[in-house]
Amino acid sequence: MPLLEVKNLKTYFFTLGGVVKAVDNVSLTLERGEVLGIAGESGCGKSTLAWSILGLVPPPGRIVSGSIVFDGIDITKLSEQELRSKIRWKRISMVFQGAMNALTPVFTVEMQLSEPLIIHKGMTKKEAREEVARLLRMVGLDETIMKRYPHELSGGQKQRVVIAMALALDPDLVIADEPTTALDVVIQAQILNLMKELQWKKKRSIILITHDLSIIAELADRVAIMYAGKIVEMGPSSEIFTNPQHPYTQLLLKAIPRLRGPIEKLAYIPGTPPDLRIPPPGCRFAPRCPFAMDVCRKDEPEMVKVGENHYVACWLTQKGR
Ligand SMILES: Nc1ncnc2c1ncn2[C@@H]1O[C@H](COP(=O)(O)OP(=O)(O)OP(=O)(O)O)[C@@H](O)[C@H]1O
Ligand code: SF4
Ligand SMILES: [Mg+2]
Repeated sequence: MPLLEVKNLKTYFFTLGGVVKAVDNVSLTLERGEVLGIAGESGCGKSTLAWSILGLVPPPGRIVSGSIVFDGIDITKLSEQELRSKIRWKRISMVFQGAMNALTPVFTVEMQLSEPLIIHKGMTKKEAREEVARLLRMVGLDETIMKRYPHELSGGQKQRVVIAMALALDPDLVIADEPTTALDVVIQAQILNLMKELQWKKKRSIILITHDLSIIAELADRVAIMYAGKIVEMGPSSEIFTNPQHPYTQLLLKAIPRLRGPIEKLAYIPGTPPDLRIPPPGCRFAPRCPFAMDVCRKDEPEMVKVGENHYVACWLTQKGR
């Protein structure tokens, strides 16, 4: 049984201007100890998918249909109270996008990190202090940092504190939403190495969300490519990076800045993603796709298997099948 199985998930935002179909019929699985990368342009629904898995979709959003089965429990069926006491932070935690800037400015690192330990683990203040020191050392920080306030830390240090917070209750699954954006390249590499090490030691599962495919190439076992609220291609990283099948994945890959090697001119994907209140009929990528056919503008392509664990939703790959 996979650790996580998301099936036909729809999470919409009911705004005054219309219904934003941010996650529209997404299915995926995650095995224990696996790192799944989720990539796609800004606004394609990556964070909404993450919030759904944690049961924290902000209003006016809500899960409309589908299931999210985590270790045998459908968490869409749990009450807020059950989610809070059984799942959130203890079993599934999240490093929120921009979290390092959301650390509470008036609390020291120790106060912020010890709170969940006191509340959820019933530790005394002294026990919590020792655990905070251990967590800080684990993420490569000096434990004396616990006496400091967020504004006294560098961006990289703050991000390590946020990762320590996500790991405080030793969860089985950590969702990291753009964990290195806004950090400089050297610090980015350190944070990514840290995450790799922490995952590897504990056989933890990670969902790593980023618009940067080069980060996924470094860390993920498997990749899901999202476009306009849908997963359009999913497969083992090695397969996606060497044999991408969906035109959108192919274009995204051309747009990766090379971390190593000469700087090449980046490809640019013409056009913009659709308005998720009124997505185009058929394939949502059709208005931007260089290979669009008549069928693409009428009927939505389903996910089909094109290789070992490799799935694609595109009419091109279905021709002649
Ligand atoms: N609170 C909200 N109210 C209304 N619409 C929202 C809200 N949050 C997100 N959306 C919409 O849902 C869609 C998906 O947004 P989401 O934040 O999940 O994208 P993303 O892939 O994480 O983007 P980014 O890479 O910029 O973080 C977008 O169209 C966005 O405008
Ligand atoms: S289904 Fe058609 S429009 Fe969509 S990606 Fe494939 S070829 Fe392009
Ligand atoms: Mg996001």
